[in-house]
Amino acid sequence: MSIDPILVKSSFAAVEPHGTEVTAWFYQHLFEQHPDVRVLFAEHLDDQQDRLFAALGALVEHLEDTDTLVGILTDLGRRHAGYGALPEHFPAVGVSLLATLRHFAGDAWSPQAEAAWAAVYGVVADTMGRALVAAGPAGADG
Ligand code: HEM
Repeated sequence: MSIDPILVKSSFAAVEPHGTEVTAWFYQHLFEQHPDVRVLFAEHLDDQQDRLFAALGALVEHLEDTDTLVGILTDLGRRHAGYGALPEHFPAVGVSLLATLRHFAGDAWSPQAEAAWAAVYGVVADTMGRALVAAGPAGADG
């Protein structure tokens, strides 16, 4: 795996100041492309929006600390079993996430940044997906 942490961090830093606009754009993109996943989310996305980007920030922060990263992703994946998320949803979320970062990163975006993020998302989806499947449909409490 060849993830350039500097590219990931600098592009995320360019996106962060756009605040809640970023997550709103992300969910609009996701639900337009995949209306079927809309029912999994609560009616009001406001809290969830902040949590999703806070989680991304934590992942970016711990990019070079594999143990912490895997711990965060395993817990997150386990909880997602309880939300009805499935491994097959991850590619759709990945496409919308990359589209969102590309949209807001401005000059900090490049083919190299895109490749680095694709690699990060591959690790995220793989680790979360495995924890999710291991937890089963009952989720973390099951
Ligand atoms: C990069 C991958 C993802 C990250 C970082 C992420 C992050 C989060 C976070 C932080 C929460 C808040 C609750 C918690 O911390 O447990 C959450 C909730 C949720 N996520 Fe994700 N998620 C990801 C992928 C997905 C995927 C692929 C799906 C499937 C469609 C999904 C569906 C949901 C749902 C349904 C909720 C609950 C929302 C609600 O309370 O209404 N997530 N996610």
